[in-house]
Amino acid sequence: MIDLLGRVCVVTGATRGLGHATASALAGMGATVVMLGRDRDRGERVAQRVREAAAPGAVVSFVQLDLASLASVCAAAAEIAANHHAIHVLVNNAGVHLRSRAESIDGFEMTWAINHLGPFLFTHQLLPQLRAADRARIVNVTSRFGTVGRVVPADIGTPRASSGLRAYFDTKLANMLFTIELAARLEASNITANCIHPGLVATDLMREWPSWIRGAWEWSLRAPASGAAPIVRLAASNAVDGITGCYFVRQRRAPYPRRARAPGLARELWARSEGLVGVR
Ligand SMILES: NC(=O)c1ccc[n+]([C@@H]2O[C@H](COP(=O)([O-])OP(=O)(O)OC[C@H]3O[C@@H](n4cnc5c(N)ncnc54)[C@H](OP(=O)(O)O)[C@@H]3O)[C@@H](O)[C@H]2O)c1
Repeated sequence: MIDLLGRVCVVTGATRGLGHATASALAGMGATVVMLGRDRDRGERVAQRVREAAAPGAVVSFVQLDLASLASVCAAAAEIAANHHAIHVLVNNAGVHLRSRAESIDGFEMTWAINHLGPFLFTHQLLPQLRAADRARIVNVTSRFGTVGRVVPADIGTPRASSGLRAYFDTKLANMLFTIELAARLEASNITANCIHPGLVATDLMREWPSWIRGAWEWSLRAPASGAAPIVRLAASNAVDGITGCYFVRQRRAPYPRRARAPGLARELWARSEGLVGVR
């Protein structure tokens, strides 16, 4: 593993589930960890517990971030940039698995806002700090369910955008397409970008679903710390040094599903997303 002492690792969705386990593991390795979450009080409490269990030299802080709000994304990125001139690791982990259609404050379908457009803008905003680091890494947490996703860039940001279970699949495919295009655009830089399916993990991801589905889901799955281990590996292992643009199923490099390889789709999604979040 890379010596993480003094290296800045930014983790979204760090107040529970896989993000919390990832942030805890990185703090346990002595990193400077910026934990992001929606609720400030809860976030500060969780960060304090992570701080207490961290390795000597680790620095743990909390920053509020609501990915469903472009203003919040910009404010969180600005707060991080004000405190850290370089970022070595960005883990875009936060995500939702909603049952029904809802709209974000900016008028986007909620799953699309949180799982794709928010992280897209957040990554953009932090690129100067990632460029300032020596060999920075971006890790996007996707899901194998993206294999059955469908992305129609022109629909995003319109009432035609998918929602509910369908949107989960679609946005997880979008995470893969984002990684492909991001890595291509960063090819000449010192930043690598990969995406990962962490396996099926007992977290709060299915919290909106009926308890009998949740119960079966949580009972049969691996624990968050085990789910986070391959994410931590992508963030901090020498074994993946220089690897970029790839899709991992836990530790193993896997071929992208056919739908992620559709010619021109990753570029089209990028252009549409830029227009919607206003970074063109
Ligand atoms: N669990 C699995 O089996 C599995 C499998 C494949 C992929 N994944 C992926 O793993 C990632 C983490 O999920 P998880 O399983 O750990 O689920 P989780 O326990 O529900 O955690 C999700 C995290 O995302 C945060 N989040 C939700 N909405 C947000 C918003 N609007 N703004 C900022 N943060 C927000 C949550 O914050 P709060 O604490 O404020 O709610 C929470 O910290 C997701 O991208 C998911 O798609 C999970």
